[in-house]
Amino acid sequence: MKKVKWGVIGAGGIADRRTIPGMMLAKNAELVAVMEVNMGLAEKIRSKYNAKRAYDSEAALLADPEVEAVYIASPVNCHKEQALKAAKAKKHLLMEKPLALTSGDALEIAEACRNEGILCAAGFMMRYHAYHQKMREIIKSGKLGQIVSCRGQLSCWYPDIEGAWRQKKALGGGGALMDMGIHCIDLIQYITGLKAVKVGALTATNTFKYEVDDSSSTILQLENGAFCYVDANFNIPDAAVKGRLEIYGTKGSLLAEGTISQVEGGKLDVMLSDDSAGYDAQQDRGEVKPCEVRVDFGNMYTKEIESFSESVLSGKALDVPAEEALQAQRIVEAAYESSQTGCFVKL
Ligand SMILES: NC(=O)c1ccc[n+]([C@@H]2O[C@H](COP(=O)([O-])OP(=O)(O)OC[C@H]3O[C@@H](n4cnc5c(N)ncnc54)[C@H](O)[C@@H]3O)[C@@H](O)[C@H]2O)c1
Repeated sequence: MKKVKWGVIGAGGIADRRTIPGMMLAKNAELVAVMEVNMGLAEKIRSKYNAKRAYDSEAALLADPEVEAVYIASPVNCHKEQALKAAKAKKHLLMEKPLALTSGDALEIAEACRNEGILCAAGFMMRYHAYHQKMREIIKSGKLGQIVSCRGQLSCWYPDIEGAWRQKKALGGGGALMDMGIHCIDLIQYITGLKAVKVGALTATNTFKYEVDDSSSTILQLENGAFCYVDANFNIPDAAVKGRLEIYGTKGSLLAEGTISQVEGGKLDVMLSDDSAGYDAQQDRGEVKPCEVRVDFGNMYTKEIESFSESVLSGKALDVPAEEALQAQRIVEAAYESSQTGCFVKL
């Protein structure tokens, strides 16, 4: 099978923890080069994954003629410059989220890629979770009826750390909402197939000393009128958060737990109950039991790399086009605006 030859910029963080291990399992991808801020780290990662070359400058990696696609997983403040250089070098791009510090910068990236005729996708790998795919399929089939309410939750424990780029707005673009809530916003829109049209939010730094939000609660209205709630915090112990994704419709609910995560797992309870027969004054909740759906779990990062590589090889439409990540980032920015002004923002 033909394989896309990959280079990785910013190989020492999530790339090393999840994405490169996922890439190693992809049938149509080959890691050929890695770039890190110093040669020692770059070489360590190269040797760990048996890649061909290590670099300590992005220009050198982008000049490597064998590299066809680049995965950018550096701190967010580096994304724009690296992406624009990659586009100029005609390398296809898979960018970690958020695409850039601001949606304006993200738009520049998307336009540069379009102008250079290269593909640009975003790293919303949770779209590939088998349960999220199942939820999307059920909603598409109409079995859930009209979508009326959704909830997404992603939080962790992230205390003050000297020098951490995520804790500075100028380096990360935002806090818990920009870093984690954005996954929930993307998932809700992707799974329901409905875009957000209005947003309101509360964000604050309630626990730690850093300048970005450690607490965020966001309300969205979707284009069909449904209301959604997204909670993303940096101040809840990891083990205390269930990573819930709940979607309610006029014919039932899809309740996922532990699926908003870097590891494909968790569970999904499906409850489908057609109440069109009439109003039940007893509100009897006992009759219909939720059905736990079984799926085969895989590796979301492998699926992400395989899907992108397939788009490079065969022209298949991208699963996560940059424009959709840009739209999610606009929602996050509007949420921060709402938090400051106390008013809802129309999108
Ligand atoms: N989709 C996911 O599962 C997921 C999870 C975590 C992080 N992320 C995203 O990945 C990106 C990186 O986050 P992280 O948690 O890996 O951060 P990190 O700080 O753990 O790792 C970033 C890596 O980039 C390197 N780096 C620093 N400056 C660089 C530069 N100028 N050029 C190239 N590399 C540079 C660092 O040495 C480090 O190894 C962010 O956009 C983040 O939002 C995505």
